[in-house]
Amino acid sequence: MANDRQTVVLITGCSSGIGLKLAIHLANDTKKQFYVIATMRNLNKKEQLEAAAGDTLNKTLHIRQLDVCSDESVTECLNSIQDKRVDILVNNAGIGKIGPIESLSIREMKSIFDTNFFGAVRIIKAVLPDMKRRRSGHIVMMSSVMGLQGVIFNDVYAASKFAMEGFCESLAVQLLKFNIYVSMIEPGPVNTEFEMKLMDEVSHSTFPGTDSETVQFFKDVYLPASRDIFATMGQTPDTIAEATIKVIKMERPVFRYQTNILYTPLTAMKYADDTGNMSIRMFYNLLFNHGTCFKISLSCLRIVTCSWFRSGAVSPN
Ligand SMILES: NC(=O)c1ccc[n+]([C@@H]2O[C@H](COP(=O)([O-])OP(=O)(O)OC[C@H]3O[C@@H](n4cnc5c(N)ncnc54)[C@H](OP(=O)(O)O)[C@@H]3O)[C@@H](O)[C@H]2O)c1
Repeated sequence: MANDRQTVVLITGCSSGIGLKLAIHLANDTKKQFYVIATMRNLNKKEQLEAAAGDTLNKTLHIRQLDVCSDESVTECLNSIQDKRVDILVNNAGIGKIGPIESLSIREMKSIFDTNFFGAVRIIKAVLPDMKRRRSGHIVMMSSVMGLQGVIFNDVYAASKFAMEGFCESLAVQLLKFNIYVSMIEPGPVNTEFEMKLMDEVSHSTFPGTDSETVQFFKDVYLPASRDIFATMGQTPDTIAEATIKVIKMERPVFRYQTNILYTPLTAMKYADDTGNMSIRMFYNLLFNHGTCFKISLSCLRIVTCSWFRSGAVSPN
């Protein structure tokens, strides 16, 4: 049971990656100020989290089942929490999807939205009444730079994150009236199982319904560029966990928080040109006209960015 001085944090998607690291970092807080409810849809995957939790297990870290795509699962999880009190909700669960849209069925696309958008909305709806009643709370969303800037062959994933950004930007205004804060954490690439799952998925696909020119672009241009970008600019899930904790601990949390200093110029470009042409042309030229220059730039970047620089989160202050 959480004591009165502890902040109850519920995190979704803690079987791996960012969610797992965030749960562990919070549970290990030296002042034990957090009571972490680390949730996952499949408890058969809890071993990694249990092992990482060590002594904090069932003290400051508690594992519960929660599938963001199921009303029953969300209700059951909240009913298992004392007074259904959640001070901070971290909507972290998410799935990716890459590839030419011709080869993706509408059903597959809907499943991305079911998890990344409606899954997050489902839990927000469940915790809001109590947060509003107590006039206190913080909703933290694991968004992405792709919630601000579309990226080739990530069309549906980016759309799901854009949807979440629009939803939260609207909601944040209403919730301020109730002293409830909303924050978007916007990482660039993060080296977790996320990317591996995507690469594995496309390695088995024949891209039905897609013309050979597009498939060739995807396989020969996009995939190698994506691997290079993750190798060069990818952050660790620990870095994202630390950046998220920084926002969680703020007295007046900010709305947007980008974690990767190397990505801020890309998103800034979008706001610098309201026609949208600058960023679309720049991405086009980098991929299709100046591929060699792009590769050289990434290689140079790899050399000049030591791991310390790459792990540096952008401070909102
Ligand atoms: N990795 C990146 O490059 C990157 C960049 C920016 C933002 N993000 C965002 O960061 C978040 C975490 O991703 P990650 O990189 O840590 O990837 P990850 O290791 O694949 O973790 C994703 C987590 O979400 C869970 N999940 C998926 N569907 C779920 C559902 N219906 N209900 C509950 N949990 C579900 C997964 O559970 P299972 O193990 O059961 O599948 C897993 O625990 C995602 O929202 C992602 O969009 C990632």
